[in-house]
Amino acid sequence: MSSRPDMPPKDPMTGELIVPMRLQRFLARSGVASRRGSEDLMTAGRVRVNGVVVTELGSKVDPSRDVVEVDGRRVSLNEQPAYIMLNKPAGYLTTMSDPQGRPCVASLIPAERYPGLFPVGRLDKDTTGLLLFTTDGDLGQALLHPRHHVSKTYIALVDGTMSDRELNPLRQGITLDDGPCQPARCRLLEADEARAVAPKGIPRGTTAVEVIIREGRKNQVKRMLSRVHHPVVRLHRERFGPLVLTDVRQGSWRPLTDAEVKALKQAPQGGAASSRNATRTKQTRKDRA
Ligand code: URA
Repeated sequence: MSSRPDMPPKDPMTGELIVPMRLQRFLARSGVASRRGSEDLMTAGRVRVNGVVVTELGSKVDPSRDVVEVDGRRVSLNEQPAYIMLNKPAGYLTTMSDPQGRPCVASLIPAERYPGLFPVGRLDKDTTGLLLFTTDGDLGQALLHPRHHVSKTYIALVDGTMSDRELNPLRQGITLDDGPCQPARCRLLEADEARAVAPKGIPRGTTAVEVIIREGRKNQVKRMLSRVHHPVVRLHRERFGPLVLTDVRQGSWRPLTDAEVKALKQAPQGGAASSRNATRTKQTRKDRA
C-alpha cells in the first residue's frame, strides 16, 4: 500500500510497475458501494488493507497484491464483463456524458461499479424501453455489426387511424432519404399489448403498431412511419435480439441472467432473430436494481 500520489513504484522482485489505485475507487469497482459510500465505509473504520484499518481517503492499493477486506470479508475487483438491461425513461440522452449537462443514461446505471459500461446502440431522447449496456466490447460490436444486426421490436403509438394495409410498404421495404430499408415485420396492436405507449388505452385518433427491424439507422422507426403518413407520438423498445424487457421498472436496471447472456452471445450468429424465441426469464426481487 502507498499513500504517495507520485510515480508508481516498481516491484523489487520483478521490476514491474505497481499501478496503485485509490482505495475508495477500488471498493466502488468491486461493487461494495458507490464511491461516496466507500468513503463512508473507510472513515467508519470498516476497511482493512493487509490487515490494517485504513481510514485515510487518499490511500492507495495495488489491486494485484494488496488484500482488501470490508467488515472482515475479502473483496476483489470485478473482472467478469458486465451485462445490464436498463428500462430507459423518456428525457435521457443515450450517452455516457453530455458536455451541455443534459440528463443522460449514465446517471441511471451503475457506471462506477462497472467502469467501461457502454450502451449497445441508442434510443432517441424521447424513446423509452430496453437499452442494453455491457463492458464486453467484442459482443457489443458484434451485436451492432451491420452483417448480423439483431432484431429489435418497437411499439409505436402513431397519429391517425391506421389500417393493416397501410403497413404493407414497411413490410415490402420502404425507401427513406438514406436508402431502402430491409422489409420490416409489423402489425397493429390491441390496447392490452400497447400499454407501454398508451397506459390508459389507445387514445381516439391514434393507432398502436409493432415494428420489428434488424437495422439500426437514425430515427429509423419514426421515419418509416412518417413515410406512410402516421408520425410517431410515442416509441418504446420491447425487445432487443433475444432479450425482453421484463422485471425492471422504468428508470431502473438489472443485470442479465446467465440464460440471457448465453442467448445474447448466440444472437450475432443468427440465433433468436425472431421475437418468438426471445428469452423470457423471471428474476427474484433481490436480483433487481
Ligand atoms: N427508431 C427511432 O426512430 N427511434 C429510436 O429511438 C429507435 C428506433
